[in-house]
Amino acid sequence: MIFIDACLKKETEYTPIWIMRQAGRYLPEYMATRAEAGDFISLCKNPKLACEVTLQPIDILGVDAAILFSDILVVPMEMGLDLSFVKNKGPVFANPILKESDLDRLEGDSQDRLTYVYDAISMIREQLSKDKALIGFAGAPWTLVTYMVEGEGSKTYNRVKREVYENPAFMHKLLQLVTDEVIKYVERQIEAGVDAIQIFDSWANALESDVYLEFGWSYIKQICDKIKAKYPHIPIIAFPKGVSNLEKYDGNFDVFGVHWSTPLDEARDALSDRYTLQGNLEPARIYSKERIKEGVESILETMKGKNHIFNLGHGMIPDLKPENAKYLVELVQKMSKRG
Ligand code: CP3
Repeated sequence: MIFIDACLKKETEYTPIWIMRQAGRYLPEYMATRAEAGDFISLCKNPKLACEVTLQPIDILGVDAAILFSDILVVPMEMGLDLSFVKNKGPVFANPILKESDLDRLEGDSQDRLTYVYDAISMIREQLSKDKALIGFAGAPWTLVTYMVEGEGSKTYNRVKREVYENPAFMHKLLQLVTDEVIKYVERQIEAGVDAIQIFDSWANALESDVYLEFGWSYIKQICDKIKAKYPHIPIIAFPKGVSNLEKYDGNFDVFGVHWSTPLDEARDALSDRYTLQGNLEPARIYSKERIKEGVESILETMKGKNHIFNLGHGMIPDLKPENAKYLVELVQKMSKRG
């Protein structure tokens, strides 16, 4: 698998590529399957249909890896929070965690209720061609806790940040609870057949740099240590979105995801001797083929001679054209060909 080789810093014939949110609303095929399921959560809970949408971008775009179709928020949902997706608003928890006594409402062993995810994984692995990797994933504790406390997406994160500064012991208790659930969930995904794991920390840059290292990154490191002790051969991709002071980011992971707002040469100079870098085309470039070409040339030039997995610097935007995404994939695979 070329994707796994790149994760493990082996030489590859070309730079492998996959796209965050490669299965999603920009694909008419996805919209059709989602309509069949009824809604987004029902789609996540239906292994057969989740398998179908996971495989769509492999067939349509020719990417080198599939990512399990699910959502990071199924973990807090199965810990007992009432999740819904509201049109034009995004995810909402009706019963957020606001104070320490709310922790009593959270149920452990969420991994035992996430069997629909493991069923989807074994189905996908069976149908996916042997040379393509299947990436499993989880939300990082900091991002999950942000949603659990705010109850919805936020621009300012006032609620959760207030707890971080006013009540740090409560936050650490909640973060540790969620970390324990994420570790058990990731282990079960590996047992079910995923070839690599990505940890998404989407709200990493909502905190001051050193505060994030304490409340965010330290929990990702804990997850990596636990998983690597048990499954040393499974590559881990860490994606603390948009952080700075990159030289401080060490740990038991293999690949570091770079947000599009981080200059790739900075990430390369700070991290590429130790880790494979993943990223970081600005997703909005996919609106224009000319801008795609310009971006690809620059990224491949910056990463020349270094271990690299091509990706966007964040997820696909719903109104992007599938045709342009396919153009991107073919261009990267062709232009990066070695020898
Ligand atoms: O193709 C893939 O990348 C795999 C599937 C995947 C989804 N969500 C599907 C999805 C993955 C890996 C995620 C991760 C996820 N979910 C993150 C981390 C990555 C990031 O984007 O920062 C976060 C923060 C979430 C939480 C979440 N789920 C939000 C904020 C939303 C609403 C987003 C929006 O654009 O409306 C979702 C819903 C969601 N998750 C969709 C998809 C395809 C759209 C659902 C739909 O309407 O069909």
